[in-house]
Amino acid sequence: MKKYDSNFKLIWHFLKGALPFFILSISFAALVSFLDMVNPKIISFTVDAVIGEKSPNLPGPVLALIERAGGIAALRAHPLWIALAVALVGALAAICRYLFRICNTTGGETFVRKMRDELFSHILSLPYIWHGENATGDIIQRCTSDVQTIKRFISEQLVSLIRTVILITMALTFMARINVRVTLGSAVFIPIIIAYSMVFHSKIGNAFRKVDTEEGRLSSIVQENLTGVRVVRAFGREVYEQERFEKQNAYYTSFWIHLMKLMSAFWSSADILTGMQNLMIILLGSAACINGTMTTGNLIAMVSYNLMLIWPVRQLGRVITEMSKAGISIDRIRYIMNSEPETDRADAKEPPMDRDIVFDHVSFSYEGGSEEALHDISLTIPAGSTLGILGGTGSGKSTLMYLLERLYHLEEGKGRILIGGVDIRDIRRDYLRRNIGMVLQEPYLFSRTLSENIGIARNDPGMAQIRRAARIASIDDAIQTFTAGYDTAVGERGVTLSGGQKQRTAIAQMLIRQSPVMIFDDSLSAVDTETDMKIRHAIRENTGSATVILIAHRITTLMNADRIIVLDQGRIREQGTHEELLAAGGLYRKIYDLQTAGLADED
Ligand SMILES: Nc1ncnc2c1ncn2[C@@H]1O[C@H](COP(=O)(O)OP(=O)(O)OP(=O)(O)O)[C@@H](O)[C@H]1O
Ligand SMILES: [Mg+2]
Repeated sequence: MKKYDSNFKLIWHFLKGALPFFILSISFAALVSFLDMVNPKIISFTVDAVIGEKSPNLPGPVLALIERAGGIAALRAHPLWIALAVALVGALAAICRYLFRICNTTGGETFVRKMRDELFSHILSLPYIWHGENATGDIIQRCTSDVQTIKRFISEQLVSLIRTVILITMALTFMARINVRVTLGSAVFIPIIIAYSMVFHSKIGNAFRKVDTEEGRLSSIVQENLTGVRVVRAFGREVYEQERFEKQNAYYTSFWIHLMKLMSAFWSSADILTGMQNLMIILLGSAACINGTMTTGNLIAMVSYNLMLIWPVRQLGRVITEMSKAGISIDRIRYIMNSEPETDRADAKEPPMDRDIVFDHVSFSYEGGSEEALHDISLTIPAGSTLGILGGTGSGKSTLMYLLERLYHLEEGKGRILIGGVDIRDIRRDYLRRNIGMVLQEPYLFSRTLSENIGIARNDPGMAQIRRAARIASIDDAIQTFTAGYDTAVGERGVTLSGGQKQRTAIAQMLIRQSPVMIFDDSLSAVDTETDMKIRHAIRENTGSATVILIAHRITTLMNADRIIVLDQGRIREQGTHEELLAAGGLYRKIYDLQTAGLADED
């Protein structure tokens, strides 16, 4: 069963921790609404009982307070007190509004922070294969804009919905206590306005999306032309490109104007609806005043309450339509959170790793791949020996190593991989990967300093170790030539390393780990033959008793290995030492002849 089988469960999970802030913020919002209701009450009391002669219609405790202060007469003598009361209520409302915002923002940010943290760590725990199936750009978008959408949904839309419902309930209650008939006259308009605005906003939503698309087209024309400016000039395409831009610009502009006309029509017609609502209050209210069923002060209060409703009610339709869109974003985040992370068996072992590695009838095909990437591979790599793997592109060399690292799962019945007699499926993944160091075929360096990159797999390895690894990988000299040396930043904000420098940094990165098994996946392809030899000698001298697997296209890179296998279309075609393979006169011999003939030509 999936961990989060509904959107509600997911939101609830992230909401824990932020919930107290939201409850507080809604409580403060309710207080604000209540305080907003008080001032019209004071005004109506002033009009009716202080200016007029009606008996005051106020709650008992308030009346008692006025009596203690000297009664209505005192208020007539000091109207300033009334103004002060209004100001006091206003100030209290302002404080509550402030607290509402603080609590709401804190709740919203706590919520997103938890969501971002959990998403990030969950994504890191997902299997390698998952990352292959999901595009990076898409994952990033889910972690940024979808997270933002959900935050808006919770801290803006949902809160605003609850706030508006509280406000409508309170205002209608206060109004109904004054006069039920007049209140009903106003209340019938509320569902009409909400429905009207919902219908409008769900329609206009598509148009806004279209505007976004058109704007994207416009800016991509600009971007293309700026990045490809040399091509545009070289082919004399300026006029053509300018016309293309103008056409798109005109289309975009006319679309915007059309959209704005629609918006204006909506606002004006909504104005008419609210105008009618106001009219109803004044009509029914005045009639009630004339009948004597309502006081003038109360009419003023009714009109004020009604005005308070107008804006939030109109917004409600928009909020509700936008809320419905959040569902898609929640679904997208739920997909990530529901993806199963890599887990080990409860009884996973941590056996010694400096043992023989055995591939026992291993076959493997990628998901969606029609043919087997590896077919019936059986192979023993004695502990401490060096294995060379030679093979053309797509022959399955990297795949074989991915299986050894358990980056891909070897199905039951498709053979076994054993280290010291233990099936690697029974070994804890992180332990396995820590002990099998691998220089990836396409090394990746982080946007950090060179020393941080080299030491990335160890906690604080110390400069001496970093330099030692760099020297073995023949990159120390190159690093010394950078002005900042080992503190030079790599990547977008720093230097751009050449392909060969990158490979050598990745080799140093692996050497520092001193793993009992080391894999070099085509790691010397971008360095010249001489450096290749230097690095190989240095590695041989410094890896001690480690088992080394060297993958290469170049025979010179691996000819000194204790044993060499030749892979072809996922099968082992030949194996033996360099001399044995040459003598056998097969595929290895053919490749050797081709490569040495090439060298002879160059000479
Ligand atoms: N992620 C993947 N999904 C599907 N098929 C894949 C995947 N990776 C590799 N393959 C396929 O598996 C086969 C073996 O690929 P592999 O990367 O192991 O080759 P290789 O020997 O390392 O080649 P190269 O020398 O070019 O690195 C190829 O046919 C390739 O197309
Ligand atoms: Mg490869």
